Parts: sequence; structure tokens; C-alpha cells
Amino acid sequence: MLTVTPTGQILGATITGVDLKTDIAKADFAGILRALGEYGVLRFPGQHVDAASLKRFSERFGQIQVLKGVKHHEPGMPEVTVLSNVKVNGEPIGAPDAGQSWHTDMTYSQTKGFVNILSAFMVPMRDGKPVGSTEFTNTQAAAADLPADIAKRLTGLTATHDIEMFWEYMRREKGSKRPPMSAEMRAQRPPVHHPVLMKHPITGRNVIYVNPGFTTRIDGLPEAEGAELLKYLLDHVFQEKYRYVHEWAVGDLLLWDNLGSWHFARPDYGPDELRLMKRCQVMADRIFDPAFVQEALAA
Ligand SMILES: [Fe+2]
Repeated sequence: MLTVTPTGQILGATITGVDLKTDIAKADFAGILRALGEYGVLRFPGQHVDAASLKRFSERFGQIQVLKGVKHHEPGMPEVTVLSNVKVNGEPIGAPDAGQSWHTDMTYSQTKGFVNILSAFMVPMRDGKPVGSTEFTNTQAAAADLPADIAKRLTGLTATHDIEMFWEYMRREKGSKRPPMSAEMRAQRPPVHHPVLMKHPITGRNVIYVNPGFTTRIDGLPEAEGAELLKYLLDHVFQEKYRYVHEWAVGDLLLWDNLGSWHFARPDYGPDELRLMKRCQVMADRIFDPAFVQEALAA
């Protein structure tokens, strides 16, 4: 039987009683979806999910994002990205998964990111403790705590999200050889606009849908006023009381909700401290369809 055990912290629950290597029952999926809306970051310990099962489970949530031109994926499965610092014959077998600032995946895209699902194969340990933890913030809890006058002011406002902001951040990193974004890349990924306060499709509660990685401005306000309001929101969400740290264990499958959180991969491990994860990023192409949610939760 599916059992959901909340961490008692601002985010996080542990889920047991389900085998993700099998096609899970509709009732179990409904329970997982409900828990995802409520707790944001779900840990399924001891699952040891392989790439094929990871892909099949991920497809229950929506379409998996396939990044064009990304070479680090499971052979024959472009939907499953390999994240690792392991090298074979001097060549890394995966993409690096740390070094980005706090962000929410895919807010720069018209179709938002919904969930990230990672299966942990190798977890670096130091002095008996895991390193390379993933940190989160709860933007749903932060929205609920907004002063009424600010929440009122935000109603109907949208913000601009632009991948170029992140691109430039990565260019400033030490040793980066990234060229500036080309006109062609910019044309493929133009800035997009999303509501600042967005209704979460599972819980129906508001989330603050801006993040430090991709949000460049609040639309329709004088520049200084918009910048001040954006800074206020980012500082508000970033408060310690909304934060949660997931410490990895080999065999974990971690499922997190991008619509209600930011995340940050701690870059606190060295090149000899080996880490290997396989990941699917699922788009919010179905979750905003009320019929999909109703059907998925009706179990
Ligand atoms: Fe990310």
C-alpha cells in the first residue's frame, strides 16, 4: 500500500509501498500526484530505477523534454539525461549537474517545466555523510504568507523569463568558453511571460512563479518599481524558513514539482567524489488541463 510520510519540514515526504519498476496502479499515481502538490519533493527510497523504468514512470506526468544536441543521454533514449562527473578514458560520461544558481527549470519556455525525476546510481560521501545535496525552496508556502497588499498588487501582473540571463551567468563562470547567444538561438528561445502569482494545477493554491535564474523583470511597471518588486519577491521566497535540503542515497528516486519550488544543486564535491544520476524533465503540457488532473486524481 502506498504510504506517504511527510518530513515535517517545509517540503518533502518519503513514499513507500510502490515499485516504480512496474506499471503502477492508477490509485497509486493519484496518491503520488496529490502528495506532490502538498509536499513538493518526494523521495522514493531503495527503488534502483533503471533508465527504461524512469522514462515510463515520467511519461505518466506529461511529455519528457528532449534537449536538442545534448550528447549525454542514455543510449537510444534521448529523454533520459545522464548527469555525472564519472570519466571513462578521460571523457565525462554525463553532463555536469552543479554550478547553476538557484532556479526553476524551464520557466523561460512557453510550456513550463512540471516535474524533474532523478534516479541516484552513485552518491558522493565524505566523512560518512552525503555531499552534492539538492536544496529547494517552497514558493507555494511563500505565496500564502505574502502580505495582503502585495498579493493584491501582484494580481494580474506577469513577469518576463529569458534564458539569455542564465546563459550570461554561465558565461561569467570561471573557465567558461561559452560564446554569447547567437541571433539564431535567441530567435528559437525568445523571452516569455508568465503570471507572477500562478494557481498551482494540483492544489489550486497560488505560487510565486518568479525565480533568480530566468526572471528578468515584472512587466508593465516602471523599470525601478518593477525591479524593486522583483527583488522583494526573490528575497521573500529565499528566506531560510522556506528551504529544504534533500540528502541523496543510492537507489533513491526523487520526484520534485518545479511549479511550486526553486532548486539548487550544491557544488560541494570534487572531481574524485563520484556522482551518477539519470534524469527526466517533464513538461507541464498536460497538468494545466483540468480534465487531466481530475481524471488522474479520481481514484
Ligand atoms: Fe534545474
